[in-house]
Amino acid sequence: MHMVDIIRKKRDGGALSDAEIDAVVRGCTDSSIPDYQLSALMMAICFQGMTARETARLTRAMAHSGDTVDLSGVDGVTVDKHSTGGVGDKTSLVIVPIAASCGVKVAKMSGRGLGHTGGTVDKMESIPGMRTAIGREEFLSIVNRVGCAVIGQSGNLCPADKKLYALRDVTGTVESIPLIASSIMSKKIAAGSDRILLDVKVGSGAFMKTQADAEVLAREMVEIGRQVGRRTVALITDMDRPLGCAVGNALEIIEVCETLRGQGPADLTAMCLELAANMIYLGEKAGTIEAARAMAQNAVESGAAFQKLCEMVEAQGGDSAYLRDTARFRLSPVQRTVRAPQSGCIVRADAEQIGRASVLLGAGRETKESAIDFGAGIVLHKNKGDRVEAGEAIATLYADSAEKCAEAEKRLHAAFTFGAEPPAEQPLVLERIE
Ligand code: URA
Repeated sequence: MHMVDIIRKKRDGGALSDAEIDAVVRGCTDSSIPDYQLSALMMAICFQGMTARETARLTRAMAHSGDTVDLSGVDGVTVDKHSTGGVGDKTSLVIVPIAASCGVKVAKMSGRGLGHTGGTVDKMESIPGMRTAIGREEFLSIVNRVGCAVIGQSGNLCPADKKLYALRDVTGTVESIPLIASSIMSKKIAAGSDRILLDVKVGSGAFMKTQADAEVLAREMVEIGRQVGRRTVALITDMDRPLGCAVGNALEIIEVCETLRGQGPADLTAMCLELAANMIYLGEKAGTIEAARAMAQNAVESGAAFQKLCEMVEAQGGDSAYLRDTARFRLSPVQRTVRAPQSGCIVRADAEQIGRASVLLGAGRETKESAIDFGAGIVLHKNKGDRVEAGEAIATLYADSAEKCAEAEKRLHAAFTFGAEPPAEQPLVLERIE
């Protein structure tokens, strides 16, 4: 089987056979297929798509390209959560401790930033001492003892996805329904949890720009879950504007702490309570979703969820003193205030542009090898729907150089549109698919 024939077949709109898909995943895993051919195939898939059969086969082949995690040693129902990626999307680090403090067992493997979107592992690594590469025995022991652990896609789990994910990030081949569905579900299957909650984001900052596409993606993933016997629920949620105020790694951890202390931005808080309620419900700790919502709210108000985050961070080697006193985080030294060029109402705060501005500041990767500046990013003082006066501060930028701030400021200005009237309000959760 020749890789170039497989690339040509997909380029011309053909459907790959099971044997061809297995050969690609094998060659990706053992590095016998060079990056440029894999990238070319990813681009062909972006243009031509895949059938449901091809997507399911790719998912299975990637899920079994390396080790799989056996969570049978964890007492109770395990629930995993995955977001398709957004800007300012720090929900995992809020909802995992909420769900765990309500008795749900969460053994979560998270990803790094992809394209203009941030990743939970990068955010966690901004906490000094935090270990995200943890062996299986220790991972399970933390989940049993603390109730939750969040680690990187460890060791040899889904090596084929690990490779393709990193390549897609830097070759403009992220935005493809079959590639996203297979990437997410292969990891979730390999990671072993009994139940899966998917947060499928839609809007300018998401990989899915329309609700129709988000629905197709959500249904495809829920169906893959059904086929492999893992109960999967997907919420389609708004990502037309950044979630919360902070975009960037340490900045987002600070906002996570504020949210778990009941002092977070209203949109982020509402979104997290809904996602956490769904995890609690899926984990069978509440009989109804309403009861689960009340439990989630109580976990925040009582301080139990914040305490759980600190316990998890300590168990993974992180210094929880930073969470208790977030002023200890080192933010990037050059700060610049971005001001509204005119008075009016913000009718558009384009989340993708804001995400790209944060990458320019150093909060994300431009190439596979780029190092992240954990202290870089953006704090939005205004968001879609807010009224502003000309000259009022709409954001603060953080970077290690004035040049990066100047470049990001241009992007940020392009992200905002002003109008006379506020835009129509959009619900945060648009649909629930089971
Ligand atoms: N998240 C993933 O894990 N994979 C994708 O392809 C996109 C978002």
